[in-house]
Amino acid sequence: MMKRTKIKDLIIENKTDSEAKVSGWIRSIRKNKAFSFIVLNDGSSVDTLQIIVDADVENYEEISSLLTGSCISVTGLVVASQGKGQSIEMQGKNVEIHGKAGDSYPLQKKATSLEFLRENAHLRPRTNLFGAVFRVRHQMAMSTHRFFDDRGFYYLNSPIITGVDAEGAGEMFTVTAMDPSQGKIDFEKDYFGKQASLCVTGQLEGECFAMGMGSVYTFGPTFRAENSNTPRHLAEFWMIEPEVAFMDLEGNADLAEDYIKALINDTFKTADKDLEAIAKYHQFQAKQNKTEYVDHRKVLEQVANSKFERITYTKAIEILSASGKSFQFKPEWGVELQTEHERFLAEEYFKGPVIVTDYPKDCKAFYMKQNDDGKTVGAMDVLVPGVGEIIGGSQREDDLDKVQNRMKELEMDEAPLWWYLDLRRYGSAPHAGFGLGFERAIRYVTDMNNIRDVIPFFRTPGDCDF
Ligand code: 4AD
Ligand code: MG
Repeated sequence: MMKRTKIKDLIIENKTDSEAKVSGWIRSIRKNKAFSFIVLNDGSSVDTLQIIVDADVENYEEISSLLTGSCISVTGLVVASQGKGQSIEMQGKNVEIHGKAGDSYPLQKKATSLEFLRENAHLRPRTNLFGAVFRVRHQMAMSTHRFFDDRGFYYLNSPIITGVDAEGAGEMFTVTAMDPSQGKIDFEKDYFGKQASLCVTGQLEGECFAMGMGSVYTFGPTFRAENSNTPRHLAEFWMIEPEVAFMDLEGNADLAEDYIKALINDTFKTADKDLEAIAKYHQFQAKQNKTEYVDHRKVLEQVANSKFERITYTKAIEILSASGKSFQFKPEWGVELQTEHERFLAEEYFKGPVIVTDYPKDCKAFYMKQNDDGKTVGAMDVLVPGVGEIIGGSQREDDLDKVQNRMKELEMDEAPLWWYLDLRRYGSAPHAGFGLGFERAIRYVTDMNNIRDVIPFFRTPGDCDF
């Protein structure tokens, strides 16, 4: 039996007048008396292969009655293409039918709105757009590992089940082995002998390893039970969290900037065709909606080639207050920046990414480095146009007394964090890190509007299908 060749490789090899076997799903089929045209895609790339099957091929009746969505393998002769757009096509000699799709196949040409595809997320990978988006996602994951590996970081898998509320935001999903329908859960009798949750971050574990191995990064799933039904929030998302010993806030901002630029430049190199396919989709949408089409690639190129703006939170409030814009929430020192504020700064004021540092301590988590002014902490958020906050990070407070005092102010229980405090008790060192929301980064690179469209299966309030 002949080995299958991926359509992507077949096109790269471009070996005409040789035999090959391809397997995939029918995108479209056109029948004539004498022959049929099949357009096949196997997901290896955005490219399709046009296959001509002559009527004298065995079981032609059955083949020519196949519908869009059917899965087949075709063995045939690769020939130079007569048509435009593609270099090769195939003269099918043998067609093996794996699975037919009938009239009810949901992915017909007309019914492909993003909302409809979300309801059919199991079939999304068979569309041009989602194939492209998820190949980009793959490349950005690979690019992440390359970026940190090249810089001597070690990849760390932090636990998914945790006993601490590391961000202190109380937005955690409880993990239990007990049956909640039996009434109130007695966590002491539960699996772990105490209440456990799904992690909201791997940072604190990352800090342990940074304070022994120098530079580490985590890349894993993160869970937040915040009830935010927006295009930018997921209940389950992926986060990349580098943590570095002997690094300060400025080094942290440099690392974040380099990382974002590497993600952009790498994706241009590794997923160019997919970005092009996604751009075509955006172009089509703009035409349909009669809106102006903005070439997102140009925007990203400019970002990759310019220095990110850096301002303090205090300066950001000044800019917002002086902007003359009427925000829904009035910008006010001491209050966390709202999405509308972040987007104004990145989209209208700086027209590019901006790193905002030194937030009021009450806006941020307990572990951040306390500044000498007694009011602010060494926090940093990276804001980008179209998305808003893409990275949150900080230099960490490495002074035991200061962390303990802050925990007292926030009425936090020290007991579950004894090990975290040990890092400050024994051989403490300055260190810093950040978390990049992977889906927000993919949204930024692909310019997809809704975070639900860049994760394979989304979990959002009221949605946990598939
Ligand atoms: O700003 P956050 O909450 O920071 C942390 O979790 C720190 N422990 C990171 C660190 O310093 N190691 O979250 C980091 C990023 C945000 O900037 C955002 O991109 C993303 O995670 N994020 C979300 N992405 C999707 N859905 C949500 N509900 C998200 N919440 C945060
Ligand atoms: Mg944040």
